Amino acid sequence: MMSSIVVQLDGVGVRLGAVQALSGVQLQIDAGERVALVGSNGSGKSTLLRVMHGLLPASQGQALRHASLRQAMLFQKPHLLRTSALNNVALGAWLDRWQGLSWTDAKARAAQALQRVGLSAVAAQGGRQLSGGQQQRLALARAWVRQPDVLLLDEPTASLDPHAKREVEALIAEFAQGQGQGQPLTLIWASHNLGQVKRLASRVIYLESGRVQADLPVDVFFNAAELSVHSPAAHAFVQGERL
Ligand SMILES: Nc1ncnc2c1ncn2[C@@H]1O[C@H](COP(=O)(O)OP(=O)(O)OP(=O)(O)O)[C@@H](O)[C@H]1O
Ligand SMILES: [Mg+2]
Repeated sequence: MMSSIVVQLDGVGVRLGAVQALSGVQLQIDAGERVALVGSNGSGKSTLLRVMHGLLPASQGQALRHASLRQAMLFQKPHLLRTSALNNVALGAWLDRWQGLSWTDAKARAAQALQRVGLSAVAAQGGRQLSGGQQQRLALARAWVRQPDVLLLDEPTASLDPHAKREVEALIAEFAQGQGQGQPLTLIWASHNLGQVKRLASRVIYLESGRVQADLPVDVFFNAAELSVHSPAAHAFVQGERL
């Protein structure tokens, strides 16, 4: 695999019980891309993220990840531990073996990360006592503190109110631009929010029934005339979402 390739899937299929959740997925993602995964419920977005993160094996084909790149994944519902917000983030950094941080250093790093997502004031509060939007920002801080090269996000703003949506989206945009850490981040995320996709993505992958039906640069994806030529199915999906 060439060094700029972050993830490469060759004919990947994933079978979950009786369901063929993904079929024949062929794609390659390069460092620094911002790839949005879109499609209806059950189209395979979460499954694709899980395969790319190594949480699910490919039943068919091959999924390759760049061995030396650090990946972090954010789930749609944050899995927070029953401890303070600060500890939730510090544990994330401390458990990351490659960083080799002491607990004191991990806590210092966590405090910085909390400041970055605007949660310093609630650092001592229980992570699970925070509001939905705060928990999502906390989970982002926990991912960010691990200094990932590749950040996978599963509908990071789906359950948030409009204000929190904007805040979390702004944070993701900052991370994507490498502000704060100065390294090009590869962002791969599932979203039902096409406005957000338009604002953040460089590339859009449209899934239907576990198959990639369109894989296009963002400007082509959002050009109705071009999209209808490339993929009538994706075009119909976008029109439907606009209703
Ligand atoms: N653990 C599982 N066991 C069996 N089938 C599963 C499992 N997880 C997902 N599936 C099935 O795999 C398919 C793809 O699901 P997936 O969660 O990847 O879709 P999605 O695009 O993320 O949907 P959503 O927009 O609702 O989050 C669906 O048909 C789903 O029912
Ligand atoms: Mg999903």
